[in-house]
Amino acid sequence: MKSRKGAKYERIKDQLIPLFEKVEDPVSRMASAVALLKNKFSYFYWVGFYRFFRNRLVVGPYQGTLACMELEKDTGVCWHGINTGQSVIVPDVDKFPGHIACDSKPKSEVVVPVRDKTGNIVAILDVDSKEYDSFDDDDKVGLELIADLIYKEL
Ligand code: SME
Repeated sequence: MKSRKGAKYERIKDQLIPLFEKVEDPVSRMASAVALLKNKFSYFYWVGFYRFFRNRLVVGPYQGTLACMELEKDTGVCWHGINTGQSVIVPDVDKFPGHIACDSKPKSEVVVPVRDKTGNIVAILDVDSKEYDSFDDDDKVGLELIADLIYKEL
């Protein structure tokens, strides 16, 4: 049985698919995904993507307060997700060694790797909340659904 939140992510996915069928550009898809996610979840303080560009992890489409332009290699939550190839839920950012704070407000965070058609990690989807412990497995699974659409042939 799907939770209410799980069903909400499914509806977001269903809303994005017809849009993504029209445009294959991953940056356009990222921009549309963050716009929808930011508006649908009141506890999403910042939502966006970091992408590899010339071997550096730089900010991509996002909604929220001004973000760090680049994340220092092998540091923080996003790089942890990239290096392990796994989504990461962080209930308290202050307890995560090396967490990068672009802004003092975020208290909890979730990141989900984004893979291209060949399975390589090319970006990471990152969501921050101003409350502790905002993200659970439904968010992780739901955000993975969205991340998997970015490079998908539809
Ligand atoms: N906290 C992230 C950096 C990006 S911001 O959350 C927008 C990290 O530690 O990788």
